[in-house]
Amino acid sequence: MLNWMDSLKGRSLMRLASFSDEEMLDLIDLAAQLKARRNAGVRGDLLKRKNIALIFEKSSTRTRNSSIIAARDEGGGAEYLTRPDIHFGKKESVKDTARVLGRIYDGILFRGFSQKTCEELAEYSGVPVWNGLTDDYHPTQILADLLTIKETFGDLKNTTVAYVGDGRNNVANSLMMGCAKAGVRYVCCTPKELWPDEAVLAEAEVVAKRNGVDINVYDDPQKGVRGANVLYTDVWVSMGEESKTAERIKMLKPYQINMDLMRATGNIGGKLMFLHCLSAFHDFNTEVTKESGALEVTDEVFESQYSKVFDESENRMHTIKALFVSALCDRKSI
Ligand code: CP
Ligand code: NVA
Repeated sequence: MLNWMDSLKGRSLMRLASFSDEEMLDLIDLAAQLKARRNAGVRGDLLKRKNIALIFEKSSTRTRNSSIIAARDEGGGAEYLTRPDIHFGKKESVKDTARVLGRIYDGILFRGFSQKTCEELAEYSGVPVWNGLTDDYHPTQILADLLTIKETFGDLKNTTVAYVGDGRNNVANSLMMGCAKAGVRYVCCTPKELWPDEAVLAEAEVVAKRNGVDINVYDDPQKGVRGANVLYTDVWVSMGEESKTAERIKMLKPYQINMDLMRATGNIGGKLMFLHCLSAFHDFNTEVTKESGALEVTDEVFESQYSKVFDESENRMHTIKALFVSALCDRKSI
């Protein structure tokens, strides 16, 4: 039997702070239930006659496909709309597009540049809007990350996550808040230039304190990762920042996750995993790395027994499904 909190009905997700701590953890539980249900071969109808618009300004493999299959698995539909496909922001304001799509669809998942665009869609569409990544936040990613940690370690408590890399990007911002809300210790290892934004850090610190954990930022990765159970990284150059590539590679080279850094946790052979939201530059097999080889993580770590990146990427689908079901399904328990 599936069960989730009533308060999630009709809710938008702009960033993790949109939900209470209990609601965020409940969504992760619902995702685990939906995963078990799918693994048991059940394709239900929780989203029957529900249609979701996917507005994407940036490219995506996981978020796009997770959203489409999440809807389809439960009898719903999803339509993928890129900027060139629709008038969005060109011939029609975001506010007008929101009001049009809100009359047609039951929900909207947005991936793009500005957090303000996502918030405007939520304000004017009259339907739940989910942030599938903006320049500032990537909340649906972190639901999947927390589910992966919980599945692997059995619990989220007494866990330290060390994020190593660009400490102020969308993934880092949301991971810091997600850890704070889940009572997970968070360490950010990043050069001074990429220190988390002060307001974002301060907001997460209040939540972390309330849940009995702390947040620490280090510029020395070897020192920062000591005692960590999860080493997490992301690309060094996020979508939209491509002009900074050379500078970032130079700045972040000492922050590559390799076996030396894994050993520096002191947890080899114990409670330790590697996570990456993906896509990852871990080998020579991409256009960007065909000459340079690995950037933010070595192939050795990526392919190691510690790496849970494909569980994590699968969990994108189950957690996005939990968001859709909890917001749109008319029945609370099935
Ligand atoms: N992690 C993530 O959001 O992947 P995509 O960019 O492929 O959606
Ligand atoms: N920080 C990355 C995450 C991709 C999933 C980006 O914004 O490109």
